[in-house]
Amino acid sequence: MLSEQTRTIIKSTVPVLEEHGTAITTVFYKNMFEAHPELLNIFNHANQKQGRQQAALANTVYAAAVHIDNLEAILPAVVQIANKHVSLGVKPEHYPIVGEYLLKAIKEVLGDAATDDIINAWAEAYGVIADAFIGVEKDMYEKAENQQNGWSFFKDFTVARKVKESENITSFYLKPSDGSDVPTYQPGQYISVRVSIPGDKYLSNRQYSLSQASRPDEFRISVKREDDNDPAGQVSVFLHNQVNVGDTIEVSAPAGEFVLDANHTTPVAFISGGVGITPMMSMFETVATVTPERPTAFLHAARNESLHAFDKDIQKYVATMDNANYKTLYSEQPQGFITREVLEEMVDVTGEVYVCGPVPFMEAMITELRALGLTEEQIHFEFFGPAVALQTV
Ligand SMILES: Cc1cc2nc3c(=O)[nH]c(=O)nc-3n(C[C@H](O)[C@H](O)[C@H](O)COP(=O)(O)OP(=O)(O)OC[C@H]3O[C@@H](n4cnc5c(N)ncnc54)[C@H](O)[C@@H]3O)c2cc1C
Ligand code: HEM
Repeated sequence: MLSEQTRTIIKSTVPVLEEHGTAITTVFYKNMFEAHPELLNIFNHANQKQGRQQAALANTVYAAAVHIDNLEAILPAVVQIANKHVSLGVKPEHYPIVGEYLLKAIKEVLGDAATDDIINAWAEAYGVIADAFIGVEKDMYEKAENQQNGWSFFKDFTVARKVKESENITSFYLKPSDGSDVPTYQPGQYISVRVSIPGDKYLSNRQYSLSQASRPDEFRISVKREDDNDPAGQVSVFLHNQVNVGDTIEVSAPAGEFVLDANHTTPVAFISGGVGITPMMSMFETVATVTPERPTAFLHAARNESLHAFDKDIQKYVATMDNANYKTLYSEQPQGFITREVLEEMVDVTGEVYVCGPVPFMEAMITELRALGLTEEQIHFEFFGPAVALQTV
């Protein structure tokens, strides 16, 4: 338990730290990676360069500090982050390193304003927050390892098939290289892939949603080749161009909280933009095969037909279901957006809705769904990058 004095200091310094939040975490990462370059094998270098990771960590530390009396209040956020940590192999021994460099960064940025009392209070608070993460993650590692065919950290998988799904999305069917089966996973979960890219000093990790319903002997991921921007995406381009059938990549056990409640009989709607279709495929295939009578809507937004993946697969399932509707809109065509009217026509407001796609797409969809009367509890969404604050109305 933190003392009354410590809690008072923490609460009174949160606004100052929030003001300097990104500056502090930027200094923190720079110094930490200089002293511990081995951590670059875990962190996503592109997210670092774009500042998304810095913002995510800063937001969480301050949110945790505000709720330091009652960390239970931020447990959902802790669980979401812990899933990401476990998927990447973050270990208890990493926490003191992060703590040390975070405190040093607070001191460096705030200068004389960071008195010993303030630094000691934050050291204590960080310890409490870190212990909460370590505890949740320990349980997750144990679960991942003890489940049937489970493991923790990374395991070698071999590419069994590579299938082009659209102009820029390719599926990789992955089987454990030791010949074992894979654990059962919940539709919507993701894995991390770890690769060593020729010429790169450090390993690269990325998350990919499992894009088919759970099967005993394989995983499938479906990767969009990110080469529209300069620089091109490192891992997705490497997977597309250089990873072929018979090659081995490292994979972590399924993780993540954006999952379908497979036993539900209430109406369900899947709303995806672009490659955000991947977790929907796993959820939709599960509904189609386990509860085909469930009222289901699948709404997808793609730029055009050539970038539209899985169309035939979805249509095939829809034909076998009792009450399923499927619609795709191409944004390069007139009236090609998912508007409130389209949602009104397709989504049953009494049901559950799953949304995944680019951040502006999710913001627009969630704003409209709320306007139709859906509650926070009914709307589930996932970011294909570090979580950010959504600008919804
Ligand atoms: C839970 C989750 C599930 C996901 N599921 C999927 C999925 O099913 N399918 C899928 O395709 N993706 C998925 N992703 C996204 C995936 O993890 C990767 O982020 C994606 O493949 C891009 O990785 P990359 O290495 O190709 O690109 P990166 O190298 O990470 O680059 C990403 C972007 O950053 C830009 N960038 C890179 N370096 C810089 C720089 N120095 N300055 C400015 N900009 C820069 C690039 O131009 C590019 O646009 C998921 C992500 C999460 C978190
Ligand atoms: C209490 C301490 C910590 C807090 C509050 C914290 C917070 C966060 C947050 C908010 C995210 C973004 C989650 C998301 O993707 O939505 C994240 C991701 C991550 N964290 Fe932590 N973290 C902590 C400790 C650590 C430690 C000790 C390590 C390991 C050295 C670590 C490594 C990572 C990595 C590698 C990612 C993913 C980065 C990316 O993909 O860009 N974190 N963390």
